[in-house]
Amino acid sequence: MLKVINVVGARPNFMKVAPIVAAMKRRPHIFQPLVVHTGQHYDSAMSDSFFHDLDLPQPDTHLGVGSGSHAAQTAAVMERFEPVVLREKPDWVLVVGDVNSTIACALVCVKLGVKVAHVEAGLRSRDRSMPEEINRLLTDQIADLLFTPSPDADENLLAEGIPRERIRFVGNVMIDSLQKNLEHARDRRTREKLGLSGADYALLTLHRPSNVDLRESFERILAALEVIASKLPIVFPVHPRTRKTIAELGLTTRVNGIKDLRVVDPLGYLDFLNLSSSARLVLTDSGGIQEETTALGIPCLTLRENTERPITVEMGTNVVVGTDTTKIVAEATAALNGSAKKTTRQPPLWDGRTSERILDALEEFASLQNRR
Ligand code: UD1
Repeated sequence: MLKVINVVGARPNFMKVAPIVAAMKRRPHIFQPLVVHTGQHYDSAMSDSFFHDLDLPQPDTHLGVGSGSHAAQTAAVMERFEPVVLREKPDWVLVVGDVNSTIACALVCVKLGVKVAHVEAGLRSRDRSMPEEINRLLTDQIADLLFTPSPDADENLLAEGIPRERIRFVGNVMIDSLQKNLEHARDRRTREKLGLSGADYALLTLHRPSNVDLRESFERILAALEVIASKLPIVFPVHPRTRKTIAELGLTTRVNGIKDLRVVDPLGYLDFLNLSSSARLVLTDSGGIQEETTALGIPCLTLRENTERPITVEMGTNVVVGTDTTKIVAEATAALNGSAKKTTRQPPLWDGRTSERILDALEEFASLQNRR
């Protein structure tokens, strides 16, 4: 029996862990999954609704950490997670993605000699001013097993000196959640609920500190949105951090003044998937949404200078546009004219079976160890 603590902390973790826990429950003779929620995200719209939408079992332990500076948040997760690991004595701790909870829990385990598996390993933006890049680099250095979503990630890890036997290319686990839920999501009446009458709309998300904490970049993006919203409505589910900085930067009047920019509360997984799967265009600075739009074949403009997910540009629908107003407008116009790049290619192993491959690898690793 393999006892595995699955760590969730922030919104982008839930859709990665849900299919893994579900797959473990389908192999009850081998896996005993536990779910630990650090509480990095705690609002109902940022956390609870995802448990419901994704059928993720309620956490066995909730650490209740909440918000804080990077140091305070990371330290609080570490302090509260350590006794859980000591009490539960898991065979593995599984962490996903690149949020503060990911590095905090991985660091606790490596110091206690407990094995850590990192799902979504090896992605690199090469931009060390992003907190997530530091979390990715450090987590990958200390994890025992690294599950990668794309071949570029394997290359990054090998170049950083990670031994090949620790790396397993398994594909993208978010796509397991997407494939499982797409039909159900499409059946929802999300557009009606939001009062969108026509079929044409764009979808926008923004939360990166480099975009929303800095007046200059936020204003460049808003100038582009003013032009794009004159062509079609833009639905903008606002992240709590962004809502706060809009007020702090004194941008409320300007944001509210953009006609047909529909500012709404953060959406749950299924409502967001409903909108993203039929949008004419998605504008985002998120990581996961670059991948979901590639899987869905929906044009995506990434409002960042770089991406840690280059396969979505090489094979998918993603265009990294940065925050230059003219460039954003030009690429959005191209997408709306139908002259954006088109693709029918899917990255390898984005097939809905990644969680099964992760479990196969954990089992294989355990049986190799037993033989030693
Ligand atoms: C975190 C992740 C980021 C991920 C994002 C998705 C890190 C370093 N960053 O960023 O990689 O893309 O989650 O959402 O881990 N807040 C609330 N309610 C919540 C959560 C946050 O109001 O449930 C507000 C708080 O004011 C908080 C701020 O949002 O201070 C930022 O939250 P935090 O968890 O520090 O980072 P995110 O910006 O959400």
